Amino acid sequence: MIMTRTIEDIREDFPILSRKIKGKDLVYLDNGATTQKPLQVIRAVEEFYRNENSNIHRGVHTLSQEATTKYEKARELTRDFIGAKNSNEIIFTKGTTDSINLLANSFAKQFLKKGDEVIVSAMEHHSNIVPWQMVCEERGANLKVLPINKKGELLIEELESLISPNTKIIAVNHISNTLGTINPIERIISIAHKHNVKVLIDAAQSIAHTPINVQELDVDFLAFSGHKMFAPTGVGVLYGKEELLNELPPYQGGGDMIKEVTFEKTTYNCLPHKFEAGTPNIVGGIGLGEAIKYIRSVGFETIEHQEKELLEYATQELLTIEGLRIIGTAEHKTSVISFVFDDVHPFDVGTIIDQLGIAVRTGHHCTQPLMQFFEIPGTIRASFAFYNTKEEVDKLVNGVNRALRMLR
Ligand code: ALA
Repeated sequence: MIMTRTIEDIREDFPILSRKIKGKDLVYLDNGATTQKPLQVIRAVEEFYRNENSNIHRGVHTLSQEATTKYEKARELTRDFIGAKNSNEIIFTKGTTDSINLLANSFAKQFLKKGDEVIVSAMEHHSNIVPWQMVCEERGANLKVLPINKKGELLIEELESLISPNTKIIAVNHISNTLGTINPIERIISIAHKHNVKVLIDAAQSIAHTPINVQELDVDFLAFSGHKMFAPTGVGVLYGKEELLNELPPYQGGGDMIKEVTFEKTTYNCLPHKFEAGTPNIVGGIGLGEAIKYIRSVGFETIEHQEKELLEYATQELLTIEGLRIIGTAEHKTSVISFVFDDVHPFDVGTIIDQLGIAVRTGHHCTQPLMQFFEIPGTIRASFAFYNTKEEVDKLVNGVNRALRMLR
């Protein structure tokens, strides 16, 4: 495979990667929680506040028009990035959690009644469980769970029998934040559609790692966050097929989502504004557009190649550590490795390796049902991005070994 730039070169785009933590080089392996930001995004944010700051969709003055144009350009970049038909189908939100809350609430109002069913999987993070649980409780609907096996793979063959005439939507992640499992979303969508059931794919952990085309997938709804794809925090996307979004009622009321307001009645704006009440995260949206351009400049071929190598190398090297057990051994996996020790608490390992400049996430990763399934309190999770290196994997392995020597 031909890489036009070396990883060392690419790392220069991310100023934070040359930071020292407690006197050591930062080894940032918490990309599942949030990714670092390239200069292109940082500069776009600075440029906006220095030269362009203004509210959007509200002013005839030049600044407002410039800001509106940039924000809408970002929407168009996003549309193109995920292969949506129309930029009206791109709803800007605060992030994945906000996108799922929007959809769950709006979908429930329109489509969920007593006795209806929502299916989630056993490997969802809380953001794709709790909003559905809340609306099911409100509407008297039932939440069903598609189980997994001990490798952390969906028991996809059970999906068809889980679906009943009352099932209205399946909400499932593309890639598990805790296990790294890549789920067979094409199959899920095709089974669901056969039964006239809608599908939400939570792409929070996949959007920066693998190309997604919503039209090819024929997915009904897709949610993701900007900050996990090199953009600022506080911005995300809910994609929905236009005809479905048109059927859904607004989620929040306020400026921008209205057409006309009287005290007697309010009529609502068209898509996407119907779902975007209030002044949005303008600079976040613009930053998301820059992040998309950045991802494209690196290219998914490079990203996937680099992350696959890191996954293979890190798995092999971590398994040399005495007593280490990997949680999440699916056949189709991305570059997320969760591991545990029977005699050492994840939190203690995380705290000690932080002294060596190594950033990993420890705990339940907002997937408590998954921890209950594996009967563990939490894991140590290393989650890689394409800018990570094999040297950093070596530092992780040495760091964990050192922590174990202290703790055992
Ligand atoms: N969902 C994010 C993670 O997995 C926060 O760390």
